[in-house]
Amino acid sequence: MQATARAHTNIALIKYWGKRDETRILPMNNSLSLTLDGFYTTTTVAFHEELTEDQFYLDDQLVEGAAYGKVTAFLDRIRQTAGRLDLSATVHSTNHVPTAAGFASSASGFAALAAASAKAIGLDVTDPELSMLTRHGSGSACRSIYGGFVEWEKGTQADGSDSYAVPIAPADHWDVRVAAVVLSSAEKKILSREGMKRTVDTSVYYPAWVESIPADLAAIKQGICDKDITKVGETAEANCLRMHATTLAAQPPFSYWHSTTMAVMEAVQDLRDSGVPAYFTIDAGPNVKVLYLPEQEETIREKLQAIPGVQDVTVSRPGPGLAYL
Ligand code: PMV
Repeated sequence: MQATARAHTNIALIKYWGKRDETRILPMNNSLSLTLDGFYTTTTVAFHEELTEDQFYLDDQLVEGAAYGKVTAFLDRIRQTAGRLDLSATVHSTNHVPTAAGFASSASGFAALAAASAKAIGLDVTDPELSMLTRHGSGSACRSIYGGFVEWEKGTQADGSDSYAVPIAPADHWDVRVAAVVLSSAEKKILSREGMKRTVDTSVYYPAWVESIPADLAAIKQGICDKDITKVGETAEANCLRMHATTLAAQPPFSYWHSTTMAVMEAVQDLRDSGVPAYFTIDAGPNVKVLYLPEQEETIREKLQAIPGVQDVTVSRPGPGLAYL
């Protein structure tokens, strides 16, 4: 009863921001992401009858506390689905994320855990079912089931049975690049879960965010289909700024940005002013991701690495979906 799976992380171009159901992890809006080749998690799960509790090793270190709690809670769901509450598991995960790449490993982590644990316990699940299971670990992780461009459909059912990811275009559809720009000042952030809740509950801009999504989705899908960096980039950047605007209008207001975050945003604007198509996006943290075309690689790297406060720039291409090893 053992299986190994590998999943890559993803960056949202249209953000998932806000839940309509916090228990079932059901989003208020559809989101759309690009899976990245540079960052992935490999996880082996082995279920045993003789084990009395789960064990979780991350990069060969035994994990306890909150991170362990999330893994066992997720495994409980898998055990319940399989009707095997008698089993406990050993979980070995390895994160292949270049030094402090500033990517949350939760997307690749939960996608790999879901796939490996479902297979190890003998669950025969379809991709949408696996995406729905993964969603309960971390919402954005449900998109990491697939490679390339992926949409998470929010669904309309109260039980969440139609809230899962669907592939939009495979990794080899279009060679765009994403530079992950890591900033040196790593302050403790407001977790995405908490930030979303406060925004949904209190931000006067939140309804406008939700209303703006269908137009963004239509534009970006057309842009992806046409391989139009301007359309994709402008739509993603505007969507990111609108998401972050909702946090400024929350009560109490908050922001994920640092001064260096803004310096990177300005550098991207400078690049565009000089004719280089480059666009930024930012998740629930200070680090910035920059979208561009392969021919601009050197220019982009040079410009970003020269910004004071930038610690590291790591480049990714579109990446693959789940693999079983
Ligand atoms: O999956 P979570 O709960 O970590 O939330 C992710 C939220 C954002 O990264 C800000 C946006 C997204 O769609 O990934």
